[in-house]
Amino acid sequence: MLAVTIRMAAGDDAEWAAGVMASSDPWLTLGRGFDACLAACTSAMDVLEIAETGGERCGLVLVRPAGLAGAPYIVSIAAAPGFRSRGVGAALLDHAERTYRGRARHIFLCVSSFNPRARRFYERHGFEAAGTLKAFLIEEADEILMQKRLAPAANPA
Ligand SMILES: CC(C)(COP(=O)(O)OP(=O)(O)OC[C@H]1O[C@@H](n2cnc3c(N)ncnc32)[C@H](O)[C@@H]1OP(=O)(O)O)[C@@H](O)C(=O)NCCC(=O)NCCS
Repeated sequence: MLAVTIRMAAGDDAEWAAGVMASSDPWLTLGRGFDACLAACTSAMDVLEIAETGGERCGLVLVRPAGLAGAPYIVSIAAAPGFRSRGVGAALLDHAERTYRGRARHIFLCVSSFNPRARRFYERHGFEAAGTLKAFLIEEADEILMQKRLAPAANPA
């Protein structure tokens, strides 16, 4: 596993993140080009954070703090090509969860039906399918809404 640090985006990070997304699935299949990805990465509603290893950018996570019925929603998460399957995604997911634990009871994200590896990755990290948004972003695919409980079940808050 790589030693990863995570920091708020600055400078040209949004362009870098948009480039990672636009050159990779699921965004390729979803038809999200660089401009659409850059618009997402610079949205005032969302928080973009960058993972680095050895001083090099290796991943991104984009979170909308009150994105789903007031709960945090992970809009996008990616490890840069060449850095996948080395723990970068796990570090970013863990960071997003720790950011909102104590402030939110649940955290959400969507995964495309054609991305079973990412779905398995989320399930390994405790996310469960909460529903299917049929033909949501493109006609040919569904989005699976996934949910993870952040607060202990006994917590009445
Ligand atoms: C999904 C993703 C964020 C996980 O980050 P990561 O650093 O590769 O993940 P970790 O090293 O912590 O864990 C490895 C797991 O990631 C998933 N993964 C690895 N490469 C992947 C890829 N190209 N696409 C989708 N999932 C992938 C797999 O579940 C893998 O486990 P496996 O090797 O047993 O199949 C990353 O692989 C990625 O950026 N994929 C492409 C973009 C994407 O699918 N983002 C999710 C959109 S919902």
